[in-house]
Amino acid sequence: MIAKTPSESYTEQVHMVNAADLNGYKRLFGGTLMAWIDIVAATTARRHAGTNVTTATIDTLNFLTPAYSNDLVVLTGKMTYVGNTSMEVCVKTYVEQYDGKRNLINEAHVVLVALDTDDKPTAVPPLAPQTDEEREEYEAGRRRKALRKKRSLEKY
Ligand SMILES: CC(C)(COP(=O)(O)OP(=O)(O)OC[C@H]1O[C@@H](n2cnc3c(N)ncnc32)[C@H](O)[C@@H]1OP(=O)(O)O)[C@@H](O)C(=O)NCCC(=O)NCCS
Repeated sequence: MIAKTPSESYTEQVHMVNAADLNGYKRLFGGTLMAWIDIVAATTARRHAGTNVTTATIDTLNFLTPAYSNDLVVLTGKMTYVGNTSMEVCVKTYVEQYDGKRNLINEAHVVLVALDTDDKPTAVPPLAPQTDEEREEYEAGRRRKALRKKRSLEKY
């Protein structure tokens, strides 16, 4: 299978926060943001795999700062690591200011698995990181995968 670069599947999604996206405290509802994160991760993974995908796990969801009505919320999805059938996507969420400056409000690592037409895990193209940062992310992704495996084994 021919390797793909992280930029080939890079995904960006923009929302202007409206009343339906808010919780009772008039901040962006965390569950809405989680749904947006899942969609961005799935789109990134689908673009890499070229198949249907399903979410296996989301590592961490740290809500660093709130977002409010009328804020421009930007989500970016970037492939960080690829196993045999699984892919790790880093989804970053920002609030974009009027001058274009972006403040990070959330960062999540999402693992998705590629599925064939029988809904079974299927192999994905290797990932070819191009920059030093992408190579570092790839190595960190490899370590996170090993850690997840260790944790799941410890459960049983
Ligand atoms: C994710 C799923 C397809 C894995 O199926 P499975 O038969 O357990 O597959 P395998 O054990 O062969 O693992 C396949 C790959 O997924 C990875 N994987 C499986 N479960 C995982 C988990 N909980 N966390 C991280 N990676 C996981 C494995 O490490 C493996 O990766 P690799 O091929 O790159 O080495 C299956 O558990 C599933 O369908 N879960 C429900 C997913 C879903 O419905 N998500 C929507 C949210 S409700």
